[in-house]
Amino acid sequence: MLNDKRILLVIGGGIAAYKCMDLIRRLKERGAGVRVVMTEAAAQFVTPLLVGAISGERVFTDLFDLTAEHDIGHIRLSREADLIVVAPATADLLARMTQGHANDLATTCLLATDKPVLVAPAMNPRMWSHPATRRNVAQLRADGIAVVGPNAGAMAERDEFGEGRMAEPLEILAAIEAHFATGEAGLLKGRRILVTSGPTHEPIDPVRYIANRSSGKQGHAIAAAARAAGAEVVLVSGPAEAADPRGVRVIHVESAREMMAAVEENLPVDAAVFAAAVADWRVAGAAEQKIKKGEGGTPTLTLVENPDILAAVARHHTLRPRLVVGFAAETEQVVAHAREKRVRKGCDWIVANDVSPATGIMGGDANTVHLVTAEAVEDWPSASKAEVARHLVARIAAELSGSKP
Ligand code: C5P
Repeated sequence: MLNDKRILLVIGGGIAAYKCMDLIRRLKERGAGVRVVMTEAAAQFVTPLLVGAISGERVFTDLFDLTAEHDIGHIRLSREADLIVVAPATADLLARMTQGHANDLATTCLLATDKPVLVAPAMNPRMWSHPATRRNVAQLRADGIAVVGPNAGAMAERDEFGEGRMAEPLEILAAIEAHFATGEAGLLKGRRILVTSGPTHEPIDPVRYIANRSSGKQGHAIAAAARAAGAEVVLVSGPAEAADPRGVRVIHVESAREMMAAVEENLPVDAAVFAAAVADWRVAGAAEQKIKKGEGGTPTLTLVENPDILAAVARHHTLRPRLVVGFAAETEQVVAHAREKRVRKGCDWIVANDVSPATGIMGGDANTVHLVTAEAVEDWPSASKAEVARHLVARIAAELSGSKP
């Protein structure tokens, strides 16, 4: 059931727009409230009058409709939903979403929202397989947008077959229900979560630095999952490959010392997850100017230890979060080292993973982890970093609600 869930349905201009009538009806049968925004092109396929009659609500089409701006406005329209569904998501609409256009009401709502978005693409198979569309869809996925379909089959154009048919209303409905079932919407509502992610860069001189191979994918996925679960999330990120997750406050830092300062400034929080691969050492007295080759022979770098952010927060006298989670990237004796690290750092949990090169975990999309707590070691099955993040967020939510005063 989707009782009390508020869906903002953005209907794009494709023949599959007619299937939205069935989708709206089924959403309403399951108790969801459905508000509809239509693009100008969509109104060529189905009339706002018909859509309004089925949704039982006024349909929004015009960005410059002053009455609507007065009593609701595009910002409220996009924020009052629990989920935005774009169906059919045409090639043009996907391209505009990727670029962040805001040239009509639909794209303005999509740009202004801080809510999760699900798209159901529908287009001719050649358009779907075009490199431009491939790029756009990959970018939207990386931005955290969920995609359902398209399916393969007959097209509206005669003699055209292939991938591009919009997912059927029942499939879109299943994706929506799965989002609310596993999206853990609301699990962390009212909680403040801090996540560190990515590598740190420790300057040698203004152009050179010491770093490590962290991509930031796992930490960013945790921040995104915590946000999807309704938390207020602060992500303190080193120079990571991963894109900033939507709806999360991201503080970009370079060095371990900057990361430490940003973390301290953002306490107190309910839980903190330290997924960053912080450089253990920095160069003592980094040069103010670029070090020149050949001047005084080969330079010698003297290293000094960086602050241990996780240990400092775990041992904080006044602002220790209720739950402190560290990561352990190990290449051997993964669990044994993680157990020892949990005690040494003073944190509650350690998420341990084997990052030896053969596993492909570093920079990859999958992860195999063990959750080490004071009581037990859990071996989690191999999963995508997004799934590991969701699982961890669900555990954090359970822990926080169990220890609620
Ligand atoms: O000691 P090690 O670097 O393996 O510990 C890893 C854990 O400690 C991770 O959670 C990492 O984010 C955190 N850490 C930190 N500050 C450091 C070093 C590690 O927060 N200077």
